[in-house]
Amino acid sequence: MQHFISPADVTDVHALIQQGLAAKANPFADNHLGKNKTIGLLFFNSSLRTRLSTQKAAQNLGMNVMVMNVGQDSWGLEMEEAIEGHPVIMNGDKAEHVKEAAAVMGRYCDIIGIRAFAELKDRDKDYRELVMAQFQRYAGRPIINLESATRHPLQSLADCITITEANQVAKSGATPAKVVLTWLPHFKALPQAVANSFCEWMNPLANAGEIEFVVTHPPGYELAPQYVGNARVEYDQNKAFEGADFVYGKNWSSYAHYGQVLTQDPSWMVTMDKMRLTNDGKFMHCLPVRRNVKVADEVLDSPQSLVIEQAANREWSAQAVLREILVTRFS
Ligand code: CP
Repeated sequence: MQHFISPADVTDVHALIQQGLAAKANPFADNHLGKNKTIGLLFFNSSLRTRLSTQKAAQNLGMNVMVMNVGQDSWGLEMEEAIEGHPVIMNGDKAEHVKEAAAVMGRYCDIIGIRAFAELKDRDKDYRELVMAQFQRYAGRPIINLESATRHPLQSLADCITITEANQVAKSGATPAKVVLTWLPHFKALPQAVANSFCEWMNPLANAGEIEFVVTHPPGYELAPQYVGNARVEYDQNKAFEGADFVYGKNWSSYAHYGQVLTQDPSWMVTMDKMRLTNDGKFMHCLPVRRNVKVADEVLDSPQSLVIEQAANREWSAQAVLREILVTRFS
């Protein structure tokens, strides 16, 4: 694995899931792999799980870790390039260009992880993934996506690990598990990254007949075609929940009416009445979650909720990815 930006960087998703489960069973088995290697984690946005789980995973592998909040601990970074002979004139609030910043970080770090959310103002700009692209271009080091404008692959890998584990426990492998991604109400515009990524990782499993995958949301919240792919879209949430083994909740803002909140319809909140429509299904959410806005306490506090185990599995998804990059690039 050269970089970890999307599932396109993964040769064998099933092997990577198994690697995550192996790391969970024996966290320090590979603690020699990261000896004298340093990872730098750059955060343009807040984080609890990604920040701590990636640090922990790197430490489990014996790596040194440096963490920086861009713009607070460091200078604000300019990402744009000259266009058609028109140079970028840096007379605004950005004191350093990514060309220097990424190149310098590449001298200090062997691997670089970056979190940079969508700004939700300009769809084309967000979907160009400029921050990831510029660090890949200038750092000269493997880049790990810690949630970008359009994707959150470490979360999706942790979700795959969580679903695999729960399916093993349920021993329901005879029929493909039904996995439902449901939009949740929220007053604030949130990026599409988690939902996009979840579709991107679930669709190949659905195409291979390993799961049944359904996406449900109110009209106007259709995800970008390249992410929703050939997933079944069901506008009736109750119908989507029928017989579900896994319900994955997430809010996202509109892609078509970019970054807008079109509705906050509270009837889309996940309650125990909704979960009763499922096949004793498990509830998943990437966290953080606003209780009783998106999901009722009765669901989050029930045995059907997997959210804590899912967050715990972030350590093992990060460890599987870091291990793969260390083996590929540095062994
Ligand atoms: N799920 C997730 O990425 O959590 P954080 O934003 O806290 O890192």
